Amino acid sequence: MTRIAVFASGNGSNAENLILRLTRGEVVLLLCNNPAAYVLKRAQQAGVPAVLFSREELESPEREHSVLGLLREHRVDLIILAGFLWKIPAHLIRAYPGKIVNIHPALLPKYGGPGMYGDRVHKAVLDHRETSTGITVHIVDELYDHGRVIFQATCKVDPADTPDSLAQKVHELEHMYFPGVIDDYIKQAGL
Ligand code: GRF
Repeated sequence: MTRIAVFASGNGSNAENLILRLTRGEVVLLLCNNPAAYVLKRAQQAGVPAVLFSREELESPEREHSVLGLLREHRVDLIILAGFLWKIPAHLIRAYPGKIVNIHPALLPKYGGPGMYGDRVHKAVLDHRETSTGITVHIVDELYDHGRVIFQATCKVDPADTPDSLAQKVHELEHMYFPGVIDDYIKQAGL
C-alpha cells in the first residue's frame, strides 16, 4: 500500500473520501494549517493521525517538527493536496518529485493561479459566461495550479447556476472521480 499524506485546511470532504475509498493507497497522515478546520474532526473520526503545522514548519525543513520531518517520520510516499491553499515550498517538491498531487475546482489552465480558490473560482466561471466547468487533478510544481494535468472531468454550467450551485456540481465530480484517479496514478507511476 502506498503511504499517503493529505494536506487540507477546510471542510475536508475530499480528504474523507480519500481516506474511505482509496484501494491502492492508505492515508496515514492528515496535515492541516487551520486549527478550526472541520477536516480535523473527520480525520479523528476515521482514526487517521492529524497534525497542525505552522507556515515556518512547512517552509523550514531544518526546524524541529518540520513538515518534511513529519512526512519522513510517517514514511509518506505520496502527498495529496485536497483543499490546501498555501504554496508548497521548493524543498518539498524536490523531496517528492512527481509525488505531490492537487485537485482544483475548475478546468485548468483557466481559473487557476494565486487567489483562485473556493467561490472565487466559481464566480469567475459565471462572470465569463462559460458553458462548462469541472475539475482538474494535476502534479504540483513550483507555480500555483500549474503542473502536469493527469485528469479532468467536466459538467455543464446552466444560466440559472450560482457560485453555490456550481460548487455543489464540482464537489460531486470530485467525490465521484478523485479516489479512482489517485489509485490509477499510483499504478501508472509505480508508487
Ligand atoms: C475542493 O473543491 C477542491 O477542488 C479545492 O478545495 C475544495 C476542498 O473541498 N482545492 P473539501 O474541503 O474537500 O470539501
